[in-house]
Amino acid sequence: MCGIIAYAGSKQCKNILLNGLKRLEYRGYDSAGIGILSINHIPEAKNPVVEIKVVKEAGKIKVLEELLSEVEMHGVCGIGHTRWATHGEPTRINAHPHFDCKQKIAVVHNGIIENYAEIKEELIKKGHVFVSQTDTEVLPHLLEEYLKSKTNINLLMAMQKLLKKIKGSGAIVAISVENPDEIVAGRIASPLIVGTSKEGNFLASDMPAVLEHTRFFTVINDYETVCITRDKVKIYDSNGKPVKRNPFKVNWSIESAEKGGYEDFMLKEIFEQPYGIRETMRGRLLDGELNFKELNLTDEQIKNLNKIQIIACGTSYHAALTGKLVIERWAKIPVEVEISSEYRYRDPIVGEGCLFIAITQSGETIDTLAAIREARRKGAKVIAVTNVVGSTVARESDSVIYTHAGPEVGVCATKTFSAQIVVMYLTGLYIARVKGLIKQENYGRIIEELRIIPDKAQIILNNADRIKKIADETFRYTCFLFLGRIYGFPVALEGALKLKEISYIHAEGYAAGEMKHGPIALTDNKTVVVGVIPQDFVYEKMLSNLQEVKARNARIFTIVSEGDKNTEKYADYIFEIPKTLEELNGILAVIPLQLYAYYIAKNLNRNVDQPRNLAKSVTVE
Ligand code: F6R
Repeated sequence: MCGIIAYAGSKQCKNILLNGLKRLEYRGYDSAGIGILSINHIPEAKNPVVEIKVVKEAGKIKVLEELLSEVEMHGVCGIGHTRWATHGEPTRINAHPHFDCKQKIAVVHNGIIENYAEIKEELIKKGHVFVSQTDTEVLPHLLEEYLKSKTNINLLMAMQKLLKKIKGSGAIVAISVENPDEIVAGRIASPLIVGTSKEGNFLASDMPAVLEHTRFFTVINDYETVCITRDKVKIYDSNGKPVKRNPFKVNWSIESAEKGGYEDFMLKEIFEQPYGIRETMRGRLLDGELNFKELNLTDEQIKNLNKIQIIACGTSYHAALTGKLVIERWAKIPVEVEISSEYRYRDPIVGEGCLFIAITQSGETIDTLAAIREARRKGAKVIAVTNVVGSTVARESDSVIYTHAGPEVGVCATKTFSAQIVVMYLTGLYIARVKGLIKQENYGRIIEELRIIPDKAQIILNNADRIKKIADETFRYTCFLFLGRIYGFPVALEGALKLKEISYIHAEGYAAGEMKHGPIALTDNKTVVVGVIPQDFVYEKMLSNLQEVKARNARIFTIVSEGDKNTEKYADYIFEIPKTLEELNGILAVIPLQLYAYYIAKNLNRNVDQPRNLAKSVTVE
């Protein structure tokens, strides 16, 4: 996720901004930059000349720091940004701040502008010239356009107008040479806070950026704007009316602030899932319709598809299994799902009409990359699903669908998994729609359910304590079986993988119908069986499978749909998830299992963010 820091005060701001950016590094980024309002007193000039000096670069902050050490940048008012690419590769040109045409306004932004393409087109028609591939660059140009269209409008009013124009999310911070001592910002659905101190005021996306200067903060809400100067903070509501809000004090250490007050990144990232799911749907699910042109296939090509191959590893493989179920169900195309490391060595048949999808959160997994190369060598068109813009997989594929879960710091994949599942849902639904295989009524129902899935995920997270209690009572068991059928099966696999990778307890995920063919021999009173059994068409079958393991004295923990009391007779522990369509159960059912694995691992004092022997990007075979 991009990080923002801005300062208007009495001190030179270059190092304040730079240090703030260092404090935001934990959020993940691929480029960084700062812009400072610099006032030059030229002897022969009547008024001082104000300019915005910008230094930005791709790569680590160390690179930016080296560049900054070579340039003179004086000024007490400026903005800084770490960029996590969403539109356009991580390059210097795409790094923030971005300028308007005359380089009199500079903007940094965290979020996604859904309607940037149409805004850009309008602005180009009016003569604006763009230099980057970013969505952000439309913002300084829009502000410039508003300011030049009327004489009695200032930067703050232009920002208020801009918030009404854009669709999407954003914390937007702007400076202008016209007002060299003020910074103006606005917010829609991306975090933005104000920090206040005796030596100036700050804007930031997150507290760690400014905790060394202040402990007093004010949160800016959606559609509010704010103007800060050295000694004033003025907040306005969506109608431009002043809002009075008193700062609150925090006592967090910088380390706990980085984790948003959570004990670990993994827990923070589990809790960020409503956001990641929503962001991944943003711009793709608009006003009850799907806008999914990133698939980059013509309707003709979609109608001619006769097979889809999806390859992935680990957690991404489980997202692929969910993809198979929904694509086959909705779009009626056979889907083969395969582990990347197997695919690359087995002489796979690709052929005409075969679409190849590679899922990888990191975009760097070597086995997935090798499978992509093999598929392309055989003539397949490759679509990558990844969370990292500009990653090797993104660069080596024909097209990319980005999950917008934000950077994942914990080694264990959690929020990237739910975001990958969202992409699978959208893919299946879009293909079905183009092929005319889905009735309007059903299509509308699925879209509406997807729209409210983030709220349902939030309901589960609000009950995390209940999962903690179950984990506290079961963490000493040494054998865990996770069972599910159809939509519940990939969830069972994922639940087992989460548990084994962070707690180091042996766990297996199984299709429940397979128990009789071997694994039931494992079951005794020393086993915990976790049954994923939300309401769906195999519900009754799952009930029988659970009775079988209960008869062997296993401890039973069931994940059921809200209001389902049927498993009370044999389950020792029950967790209810909100009801949804059966195809969408998986994205909700996995959340309690992520939490379960987390709390068991914490009981065992494991390092959940960096489990032993594992890495975030697996770049070796
Ligand atoms: C599990 C986990 C791994 C990854 C796997 C693939 O929590 O993180 O199983 O899912 O290594 O990684 P990507 O998705 O980056 O290709």
